[in-house]
Amino acid sequence: MKYPVTVYGDPMLRKKANTIHKDHEGLTEILENMWETMYYSDGVGLAAPQVGLSIRLFVVDATSGADEEPDLIDFKKVFINPEIIETFGEEWVMNEGCLSLPEIREDVKRPDVVRIKYQDENFETHEEEFSGYAGRIIQHEYDHLDGKLFIDYLSPLRKRLLKSKLRNIASGKVQPHYRIKVPVKSL
Ligand code: NI
Repeated sequence: MKYPVTVYGDPMLRKKANTIHKDHEGLTEILENMWETMYYSDGVGLAAPQVGLSIRLFVVDATSGADEEPDLIDFKKVFINPEIIETFGEEWVMNEGCLSLPEIREDVKRPDVVRIKYQDENFETHEEEFSGYAGRIIQHEYDHLDGKLFIDYLSPLRKRLLKSKLRNIASGKVQPHYRIKVPVKSL
């Protein structure tokens, strides 16, 4: 089953998500649905708050980028209860997009390397370093678990220029090819 994607304006995207346990109800199904939603939406990563679930979990699959970055060949993973230990390395700029911010792409600067501790779908703990595109995706998805979006990194000027686009998203005036959950209007 594909979930509708929560978009900018939905309070779910601004909440700090909760840690989960091994016996979290319906976890297998949640993961299946998240993969299905991510592939259908042409995303390379998807965090649980983006499908209305306030839990610390995200999935990534950037194996299609392996032509350019051979390290990505096996970069299909589930990250449960992740904790970023540190980020380091030279900061670089990438033009980022997000399924929760349809039709918006902006340059975002982030450190190259991320060291992260997480549990996989079998609740085995790993601690690994990722850099390049993989490190980038992880930092972006991880932010979703803490209620952060990539637009938070923009200058006040860039943000001002996006204001009407953001308003359109929040009021459901966007039509991506995937289903979205239009935020409930707040006055
Ligand atoms: Ni995103």
